[in-house]
Amino acid sequence: MDAQKPSPPSPRQVATPAIVAVQPLRLKPQRMNGLSERLLVSHYENNYGGALRRLNAIRARLAALDWARAPVFEINGLKREELIAAGSVILHEVYFDALGGDGDNPPTGLAEPPAGLARALERDFGSVMAWRAEFTALAKAQAGGSGWTILAWSARLGRLVNQWAADHGHGLPGGVPILALDMYEHAYHLDFGAKAAAYVDQVMANLNWPRIAARYRLAIGESAGEDALFLPYGAPAQAEARISAEALKAVLERDDERRPVLLDLCLPVDLPRRSDMLAGAAFHAPAALPRWVEQLPRGRPIAVYCICGFQVSGRAVTELRRRGYDARALVGGITAWHAIGGATVPLDTATYEDAP
Ligand SMILES: [Fe+2]
Repeated sequence: MDAQKPSPPSPRQVATPAIVAVQPLRLKPQRMNGLSERLLVSHYENNYGGALRRLNAIRARLAALDWARAPVFEINGLKREELIAAGSVILHEVYFDALGGDGDNPPTGLAEPPAGLARALERDFGSVMAWRAEFTALAKAQAGGSGWTILAWSARLGRLVNQWAADHGHGLPGGVPILALDMYEHAYHLDFGAKAAAYVDQVMANLNWPRIAARYRLAIGESAGEDALFLPYGAPAQAEARISAEALKAVLERDDERRPVLLDLCLPVDLPRRSDMLAGAAFHAPAALPRWVEQLPRGRPIAVYCICGFQVSGRAVTELRRRGYDARALVGGITAWHAIGGATVPLDTATYEDAP
């Protein structure tokens, strides 16, 4: 009987799905305006990271699924969960990218949209102020429930729209989100309790309009030099001077000479923010580079990380590469490492220099 024959493998059964890579935080979580580092990092590592890990696990299950034989409840369940997880990943990335100041400067709360986006908001809402009133009222109307308030570009409607979303899988077909405001309780409860309206007002005082405007230009096909806006502040500009969390995890799982030396760099002022590290890393003060650089082996790759992958690891990698070392900065730092579920050990400060 035909039923006895093994079904031929589908392309999906033999394909290895590409991992959806973690995006780094572009905001500086310790330099925000009325949004705490504890809230933002917990949200990024646990809710965004959780969705990302779930999405990759679901994609691995789907890649191994025998589509001809799988029961419909399994197909429905996995595809529904894939949609929800992917929506959560994408909307969280739009949310975090829309927040933050300029370099080390916290958001002032006074920033306004750049001219091109301001004109589009005026065209579609009457004025920037009218857009803001509608957007914040919509977000506050979602208080006590959950969902997203989204500013999206719709090519079909020919305009920007403020879109209501009840969950991660709820979107305007064909709409491109350029600003997403997370109205799930996990986005604010640590700082604001049940005061969702106060959270909405505080988010509006932390918007990074250059990045929101860059997403708008990308959505309407008028991108020009946006890459620099999405490079974390102080991270090395050259791709070969950076390593992703996924790539580092892969090379650390190998036990050969290509395994990188791990350097954990931390400013003295940031020591209270630290509690863990990657296993085998040496913990150093960046200013003591002339002392610890002598201990680095030549001819081995070096992976350098700091808390979020901004200028602390970026400057050290630039200096190490200038001295001829094959050094790379971990994109997103140990925060991105946490988000992908990378293992850590308790922080060991034995190698840390006293005020160099
Ligand atoms: Fe969230």
